[in-house]
Amino acid sequence: MTEPTPVIVARHVNHTFQTDSGPLPVLRDVNLTLARNTFTCLVGPSGCGKSTLLRIISGLITPTSGEIMLDGEPVVKPHPKIRHVFQQANLMPWRTVAENIALPLELAGVPADERQEAAHQLAALVGLAGFEGAYPAELSGGMAQRVAIARALVQEPEVLLLDEPFGALDAMTRDALGEELLRIWQARESTVLMVTHSISEAILLSDRVLVMGPRPGHIEAEFSVDLPRPRTLQMLHTPDAGRLSEAIRAAIHVDAAAVVR
Ligand SMILES: Nc1ncnc2c1ncn2[C@@H]1O[C@H](COP(=O)(O)OP(=O)(O)OP(=O)(O)O)[C@@H](O)[C@H]1O
Ligand SMILES: [Mg+2]
Repeated sequence: MTEPTPVIVARHVNHTFQTDSGPLPVLRDVNLTLARNTFTCLVGPSGCGKSTLLRIISGLITPTSGEIMLDGEPVVKPHPKIRHVFQQANLMPWRTVAENIALPLELAGVPADERQEAAHQLAALVGLAGFEGAYPAELSGGMAQRVAIARALVQEPEVLLLDEPFGALDAMTRDALGEELLRIWQARESTVLMVTHSISEAILLSDRVLVMGPRPGHIEAEFSVDLPRPRTLQMLHTPDAGRLSEAIRAAIHVDAAAVVR
């Protein structure tokens, strides 16, 4: 049996920013593949190039060398099948929740009644039914982030890139949104790559955890998360999850290759 084509392949991606103080190498020979409908988390020290890698995968930055393939085709500019959720929700304050969610559809010329229908469905999916008419200033941080996720999902992207989407939130809200994200991911088929600083969040959500080393970032270790699905927060307290968490923690801090092999 031949392997199905991965949705995303990054091949030998290198990136150097030109800064006022000279060239800054940020990514060094990054290779990764995302199989269809899988959930992958990317962890690594601050400044190692995680956000840069996401921007490269979504076509916002052209890498110095190397390539990104989406379904076997090179990504050279932002592609509608790939959606990127940034750490800040970036909602338009003068638009309601429903209008924010439907923005990509509006830009694509979808008629108003279809947009409204889609926005209502998505609002319900992310737990915001009843808030469609609210404005961003009336939302909590977690609610705003859910709107950003709904907006990213409204065109049913094949690939969802999430850059610390819960970064600014307290632990309880993070846990609740993590479970919600799992539910959404299971309800809609898509391939997710999510950056997080939380090892337990990575274990709760993903099939695979990639560990990036310090700048210039390179994928140094890879762990598969074999906990059964559906996942629950209680699973994080099992011995298996504990061992995995320790191994990931160790890989982030010391020579990763030595830990995993
Ligand atoms: N547009 C840019 N121009 C110049 N340097 C940049 C640019 N964007 C990022 N950098 C630098 O590239 C390095 C990697 O940044 P990046 O934002 O990718 O890190 P990160 O792993 O996402 O960090 P964090 O976990 O703190 O979000 C940093 O040293 C940063 O200063
Ligand atoms: Mg970042």
